[in-house]
Amino acid sequence: MARIPDRFIDDLLARVDIVEVIESRVPLKRAGRDYTARCPFHDERSPSFSVSPAKQFYHCFGCGAHGSAIKFLMDYDRLEFVDAVEDLAARVGMTVPFEGGVARAPQDQFTELYEVLDASARCFQKHLPDSEKCRKYLEKRGLDAAMIQRFGIGYAPDAWDTVKHAVGTSDARLKALDVAGMLSTGERGGIYDKFRDRLMFPIQDRRGRIIAFGGRVMGDADGPKYLNSPETPLFHKGRELFALHQVRQSHSKIPRLIVVEGYMDVISLFQFGITQAVATLGTATTKITPSCCSATSADVVFCFDGDKAGRSAAWRAVESVLPRMKDGRQALFLFLPDGEDPDTLIRKEGAAGFEARLKDAMPLSEFFFAELAKDVDLRGLEGKARLAERAKPLLAHIPDGAFRDLMQQSLSERTGMQRIGPAAPSAAAQVHALTQARATFSKPPQQRSVVRAAVALLVQKPDVAMALQPPYVFGTLRQPGVSLLMELIELCRARPEMNTATLLQQFEGRDDYEPLAKLALIDFPSTPEHWRIEFVDACDQLNRQTLQQRIDELLVKQESGFPLSAAEKSELREALASKSKR
Ligand code: UTP
Ligand code: MN
Repeated sequence: MARIPDRFIDDLLARVDIVEVIESRVPLKRAGRDYTARCPFHDERSPSFSVSPAKQFYHCFGCGAHGSAIKFLMDYDRLEFVDAVEDLAARVGMTVPFEGGVARAPQDQFTELYEVLDASARCFQKHLPDSEKCRKYLEKRGLDAAMIQRFGIGYAPDAWDTVKHAVGTSDARLKALDVAGMLSTGERGGIYDKFRDRLMFPIQDRRGRIIAFGGRVMGDADGPKYLNSPETPLFHKGRELFALHQVRQSHSKIPRLIVVEGYMDVISLFQFGITQAVATLGTATTKITPSCCSATSADVVFCFDGDKAGRSAAWRAVESVLPRMKDGRQALFLFLPDGEDPDTLIRKEGAAGFEARLKDAMPLSEFFFAELAKDVDLRGLEGKARLAERAKPLLAHIPDGAFRDLMQQSLSERTGMQRIGPAAPSAAAQVHALTQARATFSKPPQQRSVVRAAVALLVQKPDVAMALQPPYVFGTLRQPGVSLLMELIELCRARPEMNTATLLQQFEGRDDYEPLAKLALIDFPSTPEHWRIEFVDACDQLNRQTLQQRIDELLVKQESGFPLSAAEKSELREALASKSKR
């Protein structure tokens, strides 16, 4: 995977103004040095969302959401990291450098592909009103004009060269059309339009750029009912979801995502007011859930046929959704009656009927145990053991947390067996970890350690690190947080242009992230100019503690009957002298 150099992220976050980024999406109100708003990530009446221009950081005191401008775009616009970086870079006119590998080529290589796909879509849309066949078909399917417009539906006429002529106006454009999957090559090497006499559904990425098409026959033409674009540099079937863009446009927060199988299903649901539906692309056998789950943090309802194929597709969804079941997310399964799909159902039962079915959807846990126990007699020990055997490796994939605990508990209840799967951390280990964490970071204010203060100052104003010179005596101090402090000092000295947001970005995904983010919020009473002095003071204090630690060590050694070497003796003398000087 190509990666974006850290230094670029620093530069980017230094140039972007988080206030502008957030303000264009959420109305902000000035409050002293910071800005406040009602939090866009949870429902609230009074504002507890705060944006700090100095720290280039936002934080919600209600729900705890926080981060840099990148994190904000990831959560609010539901972008992947790389997409968020590219968005911000475009804002300030920077080009994202990718180092190592070519997992993602620079944007301009793709520009022409996006252009020809966009031009093709417009070409198809232009031909739609002329086609009596389309009008009749759309009428029969009951699609209204608003949906045709919203999903950009068009018509590929019954000819070999509509797109080729309209869009492929130069060799370069023809080449781009070909790479974008819009052309076919005949046996004798002639090239012609791939999509002919089909109703055309543009497939957009989550940002709304057209990356592919699905084309449906309207009568009995030969070939498949739906013809889809092949995989291209822009189109990776397993990664994309049809209509995710439209869903994102309709909701600032996506409360749930309904995953269906067909384009028409999505569009009908939208038409009936259910605007959180997306469709997987390609056949049901593609691995679908990773993209659904990383697309949003919302609950996901998977709709499947009630038949055998539907249940086995659902089971595949279970397998890929388990590792992504973070706490707070739900996965549900809705099995449809025989011969129905969401499109036919909502037309029969209306939005209320479909909502009622959604409400009744089967929770993941229920489907999970029902499937595993399908051919097992749970009355006997043998059956229980078999269920446990089957469940064990699957449950191991669930991330640590309440959901895993509940699933394990549920398994124990069903089998009467204790402790299945890899052992959760023991109570003692947990208490230990907690005490450690508390010792480092969560002491009440009056007892806050000096290490913690130094770390907090660095997080608030990374350039205070420039006030220090190595070597750092306190590096050998045996106190919680010292190694983190050392790491921070080195990081901040190496990259003095960092701010709070960029610094925290460095710790994303590490255990230290949360405590550091908390420290970023402390309001120090004095002004930033004083922070430097406070930081140097704190480090001085740590140096004294280190000295004392060494003195104690040598004294303990001596008192326990181990003679000190000559070097140690003189070290002790000097340490004591230097201590009394201070
Ligand atoms: P369905 O056969 O369930 O079609 O395929 P549908 O969505 O109900 O379509 P209508 O209602 O008949 O128009 C579901 C999805 O499977 C893919 C398409 O993505 C389709 O939306 N598919 C289906 C193909 O790619 N090719 C096919 O030939 C058929
Ligand atoms: Mn259908």
